[in-house]
Amino acid sequence: MTKPTALVTGGAGFIGSHCCLDLLMNGYEVVVVDNLVNSSAIALDRVRQISGQDMAFYASDVADQAAMDTVFRNHKIDVVVHFAAYKAVGDSMDRPLEYYSNNLTGLLTLLAAMSKADVKHMIFSSSCSIYGDATELPITEASPARPTNPYAQSKWMSEQILTDLCSRYPDWSVTALRYFNPAGAHESGEIGEDPCGVPGNVLPYLSQVAAGRLDEVQVFGSDYPTADGTAVRDYIHVMDVVEGHRLTLETGAVPGFRRYNLGTGVGTSVLELVEKFAAVSGRPIPYRLSGRRPGDVPELVAAPDLAHAELGWTARRNLTDMCQDAWRFQQLHPLGYEGLITTLGSSR
Ligand SMILES: NC(=O)c1ccc[n+]([C@@H]2O[C@H](COP(=O)([O-])OP(=O)(O)OC[C@H]3O[C@@H](n4cnc5c(N)ncnc54)[C@H](O)[C@@H]3O)[C@@H](O)[C@H]2O)c1
Repeated sequence: MTKPTALVTGGAGFIGSHCCLDLLMNGYEVVVVDNLVNSSAIALDRVRQISGQDMAFYASDVADQAAMDTVFRNHKIDVVVHFAAYKAVGDSMDRPLEYYSNNLTGLLTLLAAMSKADVKHMIFSSSCSIYGDATELPITEASPARPTNPYAQSKWMSEQILTDLCSRYPDWSVTALRYFNPAGAHESGEIGEDPCGVPGNVLPYLSQVAAGRLDEVQVFGSDYPTADGTAVRDYIHVMDVVEGHRLTLETGAVPGFRRYNLGTGVGTSVLELVEKFAAVSGRPIPYRLSGRRPGDVPELVAAPDLAHAELGWTARRNLTDMCQDAWRFQQLHPLGYEGLITTLGSSR
Protein backbone atom coordinates (compact mmCIF):
# COMPACT_ATOMS: atom_id res chain seq x y z
CA MET A 1 0.00 0.00 0.00
CA THR A 2 1.39 3.44 -0.86
CA LYS A 3 1.83 5.77 2.07
CA PRO A 4 -0.13 9.03 2.12
CA THR A 5 2.13 12.01 1.40
CA ALA A 6 1.99 15.18 3.50
CA LEU A 7 3.52 18.45 2.36
CA VAL A 8 4.68 20.19 5.54
CA THR A 9 5.39 23.91 5.04
CA GLY A 10 7.57 25.41 7.76
CA GLY A 11 8.68 21.83 8.49
CA ALA A 12 12.12 22.87 9.76
CA GLY A 13 10.58 25.09 12.45
CA PHE A 14 9.71 24.27 16.03
CA ILE A 15 6.29 22.64 15.65
CA GLY A 16 6.85 21.64 12.01
CA SER A 17 9.94 19.53 12.77
CA HIS A 18 8.10 17.65 15.54
CA CYS A 19 5.16 17.14 13.16
CA CYS A 20 7.46 15.72 10.45
CA LEU A 21 8.89 13.27 12.96
CA ASP A 22 5.46 12.20 14.18
CA LEU A 23 4.16 11.73 10.62
CA LEU A 24 7.21 9.74 9.50
CA MET A 25 6.88 7.50 12.57
CA ASN A 26 3.22 6.90 11.74
CA GLY A 27 3.31 5.79 8.14
CA TYR A 28 3.38 9.05 6.13
CA GLU A 29 5.75 10.20 3.41
CA VAL A 30 6.82 13.77 4.14
CA VAL A 31 7.86 16.61 1.84
CA VAL A 32 9.09 19.82 3.48
CA VAL A 33 9.14 23.39 2.18
CA ASP A 34 10.87 25.92 4.43
CA ASN A 35 12.91 29.00 3.54
CA LEU A 36 14.77 28.70 6.88
CA VAL A 37 13.99 32.30 7.84
CA ASN A 38 13.51 31.16 11.44
CA SER A 39 14.99 27.67 11.50
CA SER A 40 17.86 25.40 10.54
CA ALA A 41 18.02 22.46 8.12
CA ILE A 42 19.88 20.62 10.89
CA ALA A 43 16.47 20.08 12.55
CA LEU A 44 15.49 18.03 9.48
CA ASP A 45 18.69 15.98 9.68
CA ARG A 46 17.84 15.18 13.29
CA VAL A 47 14.31 14.16 12.29
CA ARG A 48 15.83 11.82 9.69
CA GLN A 49 18.20 10.39 12.32
CA ILE A 50 15.52 9.79 14.98
CA SER A 51 13.00 8.32 12.53
CA GLY A 52 15.50 6.41 10.38
CA GLN A 53 13.55 7.71 7.37
CA ASP A 54 14.16 10.25 4.65
CA MET A 55 12.03 13.13 3.39
CA ALA A 56 12.34 15.56 0.51
CA PHE A 57 13.28 19.13 1.39
CA TYR A 58 12.83 22.33 -0.65
CA ALA A 59 14.55 25.43 0.75
CA SER A 60 11.87 27.60 -0.85
CA ASP A 61 9.53 30.42 0.09
CA VAL A 62 5.86 29.39 0.10
CA ALA A 63 5.10 32.72 -1.57
CA ASP A 64 7.21 31.71 -4.59
CA GLN A 65 4.57 30.45 -7.02
CA ALA A 66 6.99 28.78 -9.45
CA ALA A 67 8.77 26.96 -6.62
CA MET A 68 5.49 25.76 -5.13
CA ASP A 69 4.21 24.58 -8.53
CA THR A 70 7.43 22.57 -8.90
CA VAL A 71 6.88 20.88 -5.53
CA PHE A 72 3.37 19.81 -6.53
CA ARG A 73 4.63 18.63 -9.94
CA ASN A 74 7.40 16.54 -8.34
CA HIS A 75 5.26 14.85 -5.68
CA LYS A 76 1.78 13.44 -5.45
CA ILE A 77 0.66 15.33 -2.36
CA ASP A 78 -2.40 14.10 -0.45
CA VAL A 79 -2.56 16.73 2.27
CA VAL A 80 -0.83 20.01 3.16
CA VAL A 81 0.05 20.90 6.74
CA HIS A 82 0.72 24.63 6.61
CA PHE A 83 2.96 25.91 9.42
CA ALA A 84 5.08 28.41 7.47
CA ALA A 85 4.49 31.91 8.86
CA TYR A 86 5.98 34.64 11.00
CA LYS A 87 4.73 34.11 14.52
CA ALA A 88 5.87 36.67 17.12
CA VAL A 89 3.24 39.03 18.56
CA GLY A 90 5.68 41.78 19.61
CA ASP A 91 7.62 41.62 16.34
CA SER A 92 4.36 41.93 14.40
CA MET A 93 3.63 45.25 16.13
CA ASP A 94 6.98 46.53 14.80
CA ARG A 95 6.70 44.99 11.31
CA PRO A 96 2.99 44.77 10.44
CA LEU A 97 3.40 44.82 6.66
CA GLU A 98 6.00 42.04 6.70
CA TYR A 99 3.61 39.93 8.78
CA TYR A 100 0.60 40.48 6.53
CA SER A 101 2.73 39.96 3.44
CA ASN A 102 4.44 36.77 4.57
CA ASN A 103 1.48 35.13 6.27
CA LEU A 104 -1.20 36.04 3.74
CA THR A 105 0.76 35.97 0.46
CA GLY A 106 2.26 32.68 1.58
CA LEU A 107 -1.18 31.18 2.18
CA LEU A 108 -2.68 32.51 -1.06
CA THR A 109 0.25 31.31 -3.17
CA LEU A 110 0.10 27.89 -1.56
CA LEU A 111 -3.66 27.65 -2.17
CA ALA A 112 -3.15 28.57 -5.83
CA ALA A 113 -0.54 25.82 -6.21
CA MET A 114 -2.81 23.32 -4.44
CA SER A 115 -5.71 24.29 -6.65
CA LYS A 116 -3.69 23.77 -9.84
CA ALA A 117 -2.53 20.37 -8.58
CA ASP A 118 -6.05 19.43 -7.49
CA VAL A 119 -5.01 19.01 -3.84
CA LYS A 120 -7.88 20.14 -1.61
CA HIS A 121 -7.00 18.96 1.87
CA MET A 122 -5.21 21.22 4.37
CA ILE A 123 -4.49 21.59 8.06
CA PHE A 124 -3.80 25.22 8.90
CA SER A 125 -1.81 26.49 11.92
CA SER A 126 -4.02 29.00 13.63
CA SER A 127 -3.54 30.55 17.02
CA CYS A 128 -5.33 31.32 20.28
CA SER A 129 -4.16 34.91 19.73
CA ILE A 130 -7.14 35.41 17.40
CA TYR A 131 -9.39 35.50 20.51
CA GLY A 132 -7.59 38.61 21.79
CA ASP A 133 -8.77 39.95 25.10
CA ALA A 134 -11.34 37.23 25.77
CA THR A 135 -14.10 38.20 28.16
CA GLU A 136 -15.13 34.66 29.04
CA LEU A 137 -12.78 31.88 30.09
CA PRO A 138 -12.10 29.15 29.18
CA ILE A 139 -12.26 30.01 25.50
CA THR A 140 -14.39 27.86 23.19
CA GLU A 141 -14.27 27.86 19.39
CA ALA A 142 -17.49 29.90 19.46
CA SER A 143 -15.83 32.72 21.42
CA PRO A 144 -15.58 35.85 19.28
CA ALA A 145 -12.34 36.65 17.46
CA ARG A 146 -10.84 39.96 18.59
CA PRO A 147 -7.25 40.04 17.34
CA THR A 148 -5.14 42.69 19.07
CA ASN A 149 -2.00 42.63 16.92
CA PRO A 150 -1.03 42.15 13.24
CA TYR A 151 0.14 38.56 13.80
CA ALA A 152 -3.20 37.52 15.30
CA GLN A 153 -5.03 39.51 12.66
CA SER A 154 -3.12 37.69 9.89
CA LYS A 155 -4.20 34.33 11.38
CA TRP A 156 -7.83 35.46 11.64
CA MET A 157 -7.76 36.79 8.07
CA SER A 158 -6.30 33.46 6.95
CA GLU A 159 -9.18 31.63 8.61
CA GLN A 160 -11.64 33.93 6.79
CA ILE A 161 -9.97 33.17 3.45
CA LEU A 162 -10.16 29.44 4.15
CA THR A 163 -13.79 29.65 5.29
CA ASP A 164 -14.76 31.48 2.08
CA LEU A 165 -12.79 28.98 -0.02
CA CYS A 166 -14.61 26.02 1.58
CA SER A 167 -18.04 27.59 1.26
CA ARG A 168 -17.47 28.31 -2.46
CA TYR A 169 -15.84 24.93 -3.17
CA PRO A 170 -17.46 22.34 -0.88
CA ASP A 171 -15.04 19.59 -1.93
CA TRP A 172 -12.20 21.35 -0.08
CA SER A 173 -11.38 20.11 3.43
CA VAL A 174 -9.60 22.57 5.71
CA THR A 175 -9.08 22.28 9.45
CA ALA A 176 -7.69 25.22 11.41
CA LEU A 177 -6.03 24.13 14.63
CA ARG A 178 -5.87 26.99 17.09
CA TYR A 179 -2.85 26.24 19.25
CA PHE A 180 -2.59 27.81 22.67
CA ASN A 181 1.08 28.02 23.82
CA PRO A 182 3.17 25.17 22.40
CA ALA A 183 6.23 24.39 24.51
CA GLY A 184 8.68 21.59 25.33
CA ALA A 185 10.59 19.34 22.95
CA HIS A 186 10.72 15.76 21.67
CA GLU A 187 11.64 13.42 24.53
CA SER A 188 14.93 12.51 22.81
CA GLY A 189 16.17 16.06 23.36
CA GLU A 190 17.45 16.00 19.76
CA ILE A 191 14.89 18.44 18.38
CA GLY A 192 13.33 21.39 20.17
CA GLU A 193 12.64 25.10 19.94
CA ASP A 194 15.63 27.02 18.63
CA PRO A 195 14.47 30.24 16.99
CA CYS A 196 16.96 32.50 15.21
CA GLY A 197 18.06 35.43 17.40
CA VAL A 198 16.64 36.20 20.83
CA PRO A 199 13.68 33.88 21.56
CA GLY A 200 10.23 35.47 21.39
CA ASN A 201 8.56 32.56 23.21
CA VAL A 202 9.05 32.30 26.94
CA LEU A 203 10.22 28.69 27.35
CA PRO A 204 13.32 28.84 25.12
CA TYR A 205 14.07 32.14 26.83
CA LEU A 206 13.89 30.50 30.28
CA SER A 207 16.11 27.65 29.02
CA GLN A 208 18.75 30.09 27.88
CA VAL A 209 18.64 32.01 31.17
CA ALA A 210 18.91 28.76 33.16
CA ALA A 211 21.88 27.77 30.98
CA GLY A 212 23.57 31.16 31.53
CA ARG A 213 23.34 32.25 27.88
CA LEU A 214 21.00 35.12 28.80
CA ASP A 215 21.19 37.10 32.06
CA GLU A 216 17.56 37.34 33.09
CA VAL A 217 13.98 36.96 31.96
CA GLN A 218 12.03 40.10 31.34
CA VAL A 219 8.46 39.56 32.49
CA PHE A 220 6.20 41.79 30.40
CA GLY A 221 3.36 43.10 32.57
CA SER A 222 2.90 42.58 36.32
CA ASP A 223 -0.34 44.50 36.73
CA TYR A 224 -2.71 42.28 34.79
CA PRO A 225 -5.97 41.27 36.54
CA THR A 226 -4.57 37.78 37.29
CA ALA A 227 -3.66 36.12 40.63
CA ASP A 228 -0.01 37.30 40.61
CA GLY A 229 -0.39 40.13 38.08
CA THR A 230 1.53 38.36 35.28
CA ALA A 231 -0.02 37.06 32.06
CA VAL A 232 -1.66 33.63 32.16
CA ARG A 233 -1.29 31.22 29.24
CA ASP A 234 -2.31 27.64 28.45
CA TYR A 235 1.01 25.88 27.76
CA ILE A 236 0.72 22.71 25.71
CA HIS A 237 3.41 20.16 24.93
CA VAL A 238 4.55 20.30 21.31
CA MET A 239 4.16 16.50 20.98
CA ASP A 240 0.52 16.84 22.06
CA VAL A 241 0.10 19.57 19.42
CA VAL A 242 1.49 17.36 16.65
CA GLU A 243 -0.60 14.39 17.79
CA GLY A 244 -3.59 16.70 17.30
CA HIS A 245 -2.54 17.08 13.66
CA ARG A 246 -2.23 13.35 13.14
CA LEU A 247 -5.62 12.66 14.73
CA THR A 248 -7.11 15.36 12.49
CA LEU A 249 -5.61 13.59 9.47
CA GLU A 250 -7.06 10.30 10.69
CA THR A 251 -10.57 11.78 10.56
CA GLY A 252 -10.03 12.04 6.78
CA ALA A 253 -10.78 14.84 4.34
CA VAL A 254 -14.05 15.94 5.97
CA PRO A 255 -15.56 18.47 3.52
CA GLY A 256 -15.75 22.09 4.63
CA PHE A 257 -13.97 24.29 7.15
CA ARG A 258 -13.48 23.09 10.75
CA ARG A 259 -11.65 24.72 13.66
CA TYR A 260 -10.46 23.29 16.96
CA ASN A 261 -8.68 24.64 20.02
CA LEU A 262 -5.57 22.70 20.99
CA GLY A 263 -4.90 23.52 24.62
CA THR A 264 -4.88 21.78 28.00
CA GLY A 265 -7.49 23.90 29.76
CA VAL A 266 -4.93 24.72 32.47
CA GLY A 267 -3.69 28.30 32.90
CA THR A 268 -0.17 29.09 34.17
CA SER A 269 1.16 32.55 34.98
CA VAL A 270 4.60 33.67 33.80
CA LEU A 271 5.86 33.67 37.41
CA GLU A 272 4.52 30.15 38.00
CA LEU A 273 6.32 29.05 34.85
CA VAL A 274 9.58 30.68 36.00
CA GLU A 275 9.28 28.87 39.33
CA LYS A 276 8.55 25.52 37.65
CA PHE A 277 11.47 25.85 35.25
CA ALA A 278 13.85 26.77 38.09
CA ALA A 279 12.71 23.68 40.03
CA VAL A 280 13.05 21.33 37.03
CA SER A 281 16.44 22.66 35.92
CA GLY A 282 17.80 23.13 39.44
CA ARG A 283 19.12 26.52 38.30
CA PRO A 284 18.19 30.00 39.51
CA ILE A 285 16.19 32.05 37.00
CA PRO A 286 16.63 35.77 37.64
CA TYR A 287 13.75 37.82 36.32
CA ARG A 288 12.81 41.49 36.02
CA LEU A 289 9.27 42.80 35.97
CA SER A 290 8.68 45.33 33.22
CA GLY A 291 5.76 47.03 31.50
CA ARG A 292 3.10 45.31 29.43
CA ARG A 293 4.06 44.48 25.85
CA PRO A 294 1.85 46.16 23.24
CA GLY A 295 -0.57 43.66 21.68
CA ASP A 296 -0.49 41.23 24.66
CA VAL A 297 -3.60 40.19 26.61
CA PRO A 298 -3.99 39.08 30.27
CA GLU A 299 -5.26 35.53 29.97
CA LEU A 300 -5.76 32.84 27.32
CA VAL A 301 -6.96 29.41 28.44
CA ALA A 302 -8.62 26.86 26.15
CA ALA A 303 -11.74 24.83 26.44
CA PRO A 304 -10.38 21.80 24.52
CA ASP A 305 -13.64 19.79 24.61
CA LEU A 306 -14.48 20.01 20.91
CA ALA A 307 -11.14 18.50 19.80
CA HIS A 308 -11.68 15.78 22.38
CA ALA A 309 -15.21 15.02 21.20
CA GLU A 310 -14.61 15.18 17.43
CA LEU A 311 -10.93 14.26 16.99
CA GLY A 312 -10.54 11.99 20.02
CA TRP A 313 -7.63 14.21 21.09
CA THR A 314 -6.52 15.08 24.62
CA ALA A 315 -3.29 16.67 25.83
CA ARG A 316 -1.43 13.92 27.66
CA ARG A 317 1.61 15.81 28.96
CA ASN A 318 1.85 18.41 31.73
CA LEU A 319 3.92 21.50 32.53
CA THR A 320 6.65 19.47 34.26
CA ASP A 321 7.05 17.34 31.11
CA MET A 322 7.31 20.50 28.97
CA CYS A 323 10.00 22.01 31.21
CA GLN A 324 11.94 18.73 31.51
CA ASP A 325 11.94 18.13 27.76
CA ALA A 326 12.85 21.74 26.89
CA TRP A 327 15.68 21.59 29.45
CA ARG A 328 16.97 18.28 28.03
CA PHE A 329 17.16 19.83 24.54
CA GLN A 330 18.97 22.85 26.01
CA GLN A 331 21.48 20.71 27.87
CA LEU A 332 22.19 18.38 24.95
CA HIS A 333 22.52 21.31 22.52
CA PRO A 334 23.59 24.32 24.59
CA LEU A 335 24.03 26.57 21.57
CA GLY A 336 21.10 25.23 19.56
CA TYR A 337 21.20 23.57 16.15
CA GLU A 338 23.97 25.63 14.66
CA GLY A 339 25.86 26.36 17.86
CA LEU A 340 29.30 25.80 16.41
CA ILE A 341 28.67 27.98 13.36
CA THR A 342 27.03 30.69 15.47
CA THR A 343 30.02 30.68 17.84
CA LEU A 344 32.31 31.28 14.90
CA GLY A 345 30.36 34.42 14.08
CA SER A 346 28.27 33.28 11.14
CA SER A 347 24.63 34.26 10.98
CA ARG A 348 21.85 32.07 9.63
N1 LIG B 1 4.82 28.54 18.71
C1 LIG B 1 3.71 29.17 19.06
O1 LIG B 1 3.64 29.73 20.15
C2 LIG B 1 2.50 29.17 18.15
C3 LIG B 1 1.23 29.38 18.70
C4 LIG B 1 0.11 29.40 17.85
C5 LIG B 1 0.29 29.22 16.48
N2 LIG B 1 1.55 29.03 15.98
C6 LIG B 1 1.71 28.88 14.53
O2 LIG B 1 2.28 27.61 14.27
C7 LIG B 1 3.13 27.70 13.11
C8 LIG B 1 4.49 27.16 13.44
O3 LIG B 1 5.03 27.89 14.54
P1 LIG B 1 6.46 27.56 15.15
O4 LIG B 1 6.41 27.91 16.58
O5 LIG B 1 6.90 26.22 14.74
O6 LIG B 1 7.30 28.69 14.41
P2 LIG B 1 8.72 28.58 13.69
O7 LIG B 1 9.13 29.97 13.35
O8 LIG B 1 9.65 27.75 14.48
O9 LIG B 1 8.33 27.79 12.36
C9 LIG B 1 7.84 28.43 11.21
C10 LIG B 1 8.68 27.95 10.05
O10 LIG B 1 8.19 28.53 8.85
C11 LIG B 1 9.30 28.99 8.10
N3 LIG B 1 8.77 30.07 7.26
C12 LIG B 1 8.29 31.29 7.64
N4 LIG B 1 7.88 31.98 6.56
C13 LIG B 1 8.11 31.19 5.47
C14 LIG B 1 7.88 31.33 4.08
N5 LIG B 1 7.35 32.45 3.57
N6 LIG B 1 8.23 30.33 3.26
C15 LIG B 1 8.76 29.17 3.75
N7 LIG B 1 9.01 28.98 5.06
C16 LIG B 1 8.67 29.98 5.92
C17 LIG B 1 10.35 29.39 9.10
O11 LIG B 1 11.65 29.33 8.58
C18 LIG B 1 10.14 28.34 10.19
O12 LIG B 1 10.93 27.21 9.96
C19 LIG B 1 3.11 29.16 12.68
O13 LIG B 1 2.17 29.33 11.65
C20 LIG B 1 2.68 29.89 13.94
O14 LIG B 1 2.03 31.10 13.63
C21 LIG B 1 2.66 28.98 16.78
